[in-house]
Amino acid sequence: MSTLTSPVNTNRQTILVCFLAALAGLLFGLDMGVIAGALPFLAQEFTLSSHSQEVVVSVMMFGAALGALCSGPMSSSLGRRKSLLIGALLFVVGSVGCAMAPALSVLVISRFILGLAVGVASFTAPLYLSEIAPERIRGSMISLYQLMITIGILAAFLSDTAFSAGGHWRWMLGIITFPALVLFIGVLTLPESPRWLAMKDRHELAAKVLKLLRNSDQEAREELAQIRESVKMKQRGLQLFRHNPHFRRSTYLGVLLQFMQQFTGMTVIMYYAPKIFEIAGFTTTREQMWGTVIAGLTNVLATFIAIGLVDRWGRKPILKLGFSVMAVCMGLLGYLFYSGISAGAEQYVAVAVLLIFITGFAMSAGPLIWVLCSEIQPLAGRDFGVTCSTMANWIANMMIGATFLTLIDTIGSPNTFWLYALLNVVCIVLTLIFVPETKNISLENIERNLMRGAPLRHIGQTPHTHSVITTERSL
Ligand code: BGC
Repeated sequence: MSTLTSPVNTNRQTILVCFLAALAGLLFGLDMGVIAGALPFLAQEFTLSSHSQEVVVSVMMFGAALGALCSGPMSSSLGRRKSLLIGALLFVVGSVGCAMAPALSVLVISRFILGLAVGVASFTAPLYLSEIAPERIRGSMISLYQLMITIGILAAFLSDTAFSAGGHWRWMLGIITFPALVLFIGVLTLPESPRWLAMKDRHELAAKVLKLLRNSDQEAREELAQIRESVKMKQRGLQLFRHNPHFRRSTYLGVLLQFMQQFTGMTVIMYYAPKIFEIAGFTTTREQMWGTVIAGLTNVLATFIAIGLVDRWGRKPILKLGFSVMAVCMGLLGYLFYSGISAGAEQYVAVAVLLIFITGFAMSAGPLIWVLCSEIQPLAGRDFGVTCSTMANWIANMMIGATFLTLIDTIGSPNTFWLYALLNVVCIVLTLIFVPETKNISLENIERNLMRGAPLRHIGQTPHTHSVITTERSL
């Protein structure tokens, strides 16, 4: 294997660590995806109204917002490893609870517990990963993490399809216990993040971990020296937020970006895919489930487009293109539903438009919003800023999940999809006004521009007054 020549990849411990962090992304995706296939069966079993279905879907996002909020302080006091362990344990408890739920109330509580797990995982896993991965592979980790989320969603759609033939919804929800157990046992074997250890002044232990993870003592020593230097900058997010208007701007931008990602409508498609196929005239469960699997596969494949283009085209052009594609597709879907889908050909046009929409999201807002949110925050406020934007993702996710069926019931399918088309147009305008291009600029320069008061859309520009090192940006 050619990768064996790279010193980075020869370390087995590092590979295991990356795999385990990726597993947390997979679980995030599994839990997001599973509900689409299970929902029609749950609705039947517990005779759920549209509103109760929305509650079952969105209570997980409520838990995730709360989980993300708690994980900042939790991972800084208990450590990243213990936080991940708590997350994995919550995944196990929530999955078992969902599978065994004798009544709606137990199902709702178990989905809430799963939400807490997803919130903890979506904050802690990328943080742990970025602190433990060698610098040379850190850059691609965020897009790869998103890739794992999409693979998780696809795996959930596939297992939903397999179990839907016999109507085994308990298995659909319960099978996630197994990867959750693997995560729990795996995390037990992980070392604590050396950066967190250094923050807690446990330098000897940090040195030990680095020796284990890096290929030479010298590499470990150099990295520890860098870490010790950088942890001198204490996290003082809340204080900074209160007193520094420029940090407030970057925090608000992170929150806005996550709201934009959710208001594209992609989440609706992920949660309610079979329902959308039903509106498009595919009446059998089999057709709806296979349609959903194809949607999940498109999501995975199109994420590779983003991974390939993000550092070449830059963030802003890809985002503008993605939002435009999504606006047009939502508009077309609305039109198709308005004019009534009858003939076979029209149904397939609707499916094609849906798949183009998914491609538009996965190649742009899907990974890029997470990338931008990690880039725009100044070092001293990073934990706080990322906590706020991650929480915003889940709050917006919940708003979308909790209103889709009600919108369909009250204003009808065409108007609902037109509303999302309009929201995507708003996203294009917001991108033009507020979103910076952060390709090929160091995080230090972004921070300098922000703190000097440059307009948000310009904080990614290389300052001309300084002789600046425009290093290839790490994500
Ligand atoms: C988003 C989710 C979305 C998923 C789809 C993630 O980045 O946060 O809301 O459902 O991508 O792949």
